[in-house]
Amino acid sequence: MVNTFNQKSVALGVLVAASAFAAGAFASDKTEPRSDVYKDRFSKQYNSWHDTAKSTENTDLLAADPNLVVLWAGYGFAKDYNAPRGHMYAVTDVRNTLRTGAPRSAEDGPMPMACWSCKSPDVPRVIEEQGEAAYFSGKWFKGGAEITNTIGCADCHEKGSPKLRISRPFAERAFDTMGKPFDKASRADKQSMVCGQCHVEYYFEKVDGRKGFVKFPWDDGVTVDQMEVYYDKMNFADWTHKISKTPMLKAQHPGYETWSLGVHGQNNVTCVDCHMPKVTNAEGKRFTDHKVGNPFDRFEETCARCHSQSKEFMLGQYDAGMAKVKELKAKAEQQLVHAHFEAGAAWSAGATEAEMKPILMDIRHAQWRWDYAIASHGVYAHNPTEALRVLGTAVDNAANARVKLAQLLAQKGVKQPVAIPDISTKAKAQAAVGLNMKKLVADKEAFKKEVLPAWDAEAKKREATYK
Ligand code: HEC
Ligand code: HEC
Ligand code: HEC
Ligand code: HEC
Repeated sequence: MVNTFNQKSVALGVLVAASAFAAGAFASDKTEPRSDVYKDRFSKQYNSWHDTAKSTENTDLLAADPNLVVLWAGYGFAKDYNAPRGHMYAVTDVRNTLRTGAPRSAEDGPMPMACWSCKSPDVPRVIEEQGEAAYFSGKWFKGGAEITNTIGCADCHEKGSPKLRISRPFAERAFDTMGKPFDKASRADKQSMVCGQCHVEYYFEKVDGRKGFVKFPWDDGVTVDQMEVYYDKMNFADWTHKISKTPMLKAQHPGYETWSLGVHGQNNVTCVDCHMPKVTNAEGKRFTDHKVGNPFDRFEETCARCHSQSKEFMLGQYDAGMAKVKELKAKAEQQLVHAHFEAGAAWSAGATEAEMKPILMDIRHAQWRWDYAIASHGVYAHNPTEALRVLGTAVDNAANARVKLAQLLAQKGVKQPVAIPDISTKAKAQAAVGLNMKKLVADKEAFKKEVLPAWDAEAKKREATYK
């Protein structure tokens, strides 16, 4: 009862002081966060879910493309950014990334509680037990001993049941906003919506002056243009760029959005059709393969169900699409890197806020568009045509910024072209944007050694009291 009340209040924009309702006196009866308890009862699903642990590869995307360090200067992503891997690593990876830092108390930054939100079924458990406002209050450290089970059964299923559910109230509200309430959705829609709880664009909304609640910016629609208008209307910025001083937007991973706008989304081919196909085991039993991973690894059960071409042919198509997107991505990055440094040079030469404003708006929009296309992991497969369109507008916006910058720099007597420091490797780029990596890494190592074991011990004690 209490939880429902809290959720509704938030939806109405009235934040109820959570502490009044969240005495911590009741445990959730809707969420079993420990996937292990289903090991025997649903062994086929459990074992295939556990196989996501086999996707171990941890690709360092900053090393692969040091431009990213400049684009994210002043923001956590410039410190550390890896490609996604198996669901089994979600908690491990959020603990270990340099982005979450080395906090020692619930008031210690840099990240808020919201950063746990797509990592674990302990998130809905804590929200059900304490209310949403209490969950979102405090910094990331506060959740360390609570959020310990990686993405599992309770993220997508009702307790002890194969029935799908939306486990996060903020996702439920977002689907309601787009006129697609989960309860009324078709089976196919539900299959994609469970993934769309996490594989989406989101930001941390201010409620009662505190920046902390997760919200999907879907009020006006899910295209790059609609979300841009949404953010601009409320002057939202994730951070201020260190070099150009631009009020920036960081796109997260709008995969659900870009999929929905693409050929498969439009034809209601769901995430599950490609990433969790029905398979038959050695005993002839049919079940849903829970090893969420690369659909090409199970070509017969995925693409080949609907397409008659060979795997080689379709992989070739996929690679060709990826190459085209990467070509335009590189062009957009090149333009943006120059724009940031040129804007920095303009500030140094005494440019005024009024002179810079239209330029920074162009940079903001250009980078938002580049990020929307690229951060949406899998966009090469999900919607390469939309990625190309969006990247085209990124190049266009960045070019507009640079035309204005060229005029302003000339006016201020700055010699052009503006020099770019050596950013040819990740380390050089990080030094160029003023990051002290040695200290960040040393602090993190100490954090891992001293804090993580304490979190795990506390979680073990708590779970020992569960029935
Ligand atoms: C990322 C979301 C997700 C996670 C995590 C997840 N499931 Fe599922 N599960 C699904 C989807 C999607 C289906 C297919 C539903 C349909 O057919 O409409 C499914 C189907 C099932 C079914 C029905 C039988 C079948 O094989 O189709 C069972 C039982 C099940 N899951 C158990 C589990 C268990 C146990 C876990 C944890 C070890 C788990 N699931 C984790 C999404 C998930
Ligand atoms: C509770 C949030 C959550 C849900 C629900 C969820 N994901 Fe994920 N997913 C993640 C996170 C976080 C990662 C990155 C994990 C890491 O790198 O440590 C990820 C990684 C992935 C990957 C990369 C796997 C690899 O081996 O490289 C794929 C593909 C993926 N998810 C697809 C899906 C699909 C399809 C669904 C729905 C059936 C789904 N996810 C549901 C949060 C979620
Ligand atoms: C038509 C089939 C198809 C559909 C539908 C589909 N995907 Fe994918 N997805 C792919 C392919 C193919 C890849 C590329 C796999 C790879 O290279 O690892 C991919 C990649 C991904 C990745 C990135 C994995 C990585 O390691 O970089 C994520 C995350 C993902 N998909 C999530 C989703 C979600 C969420 C949905 C639904 C909203 C969805 N996909 C719908 C085929 C599909
Ligand atoms: C459940 C059925 C289904 C599955 C599974 C499926 N597709 Fe499709 N695919 C479709 C449909 C429907 C279309 C649209 C066909 C049309 O418009 O003529 C399509 C279109 C395409 C296109 C053309 C895209 C365009 O822009 O015109 C490509 C490429 C493609 N699929 C690749 C894949 C790959 C790769 C996989 C596996 C990772 C896959 N599909 C899995 C049903 C499916």
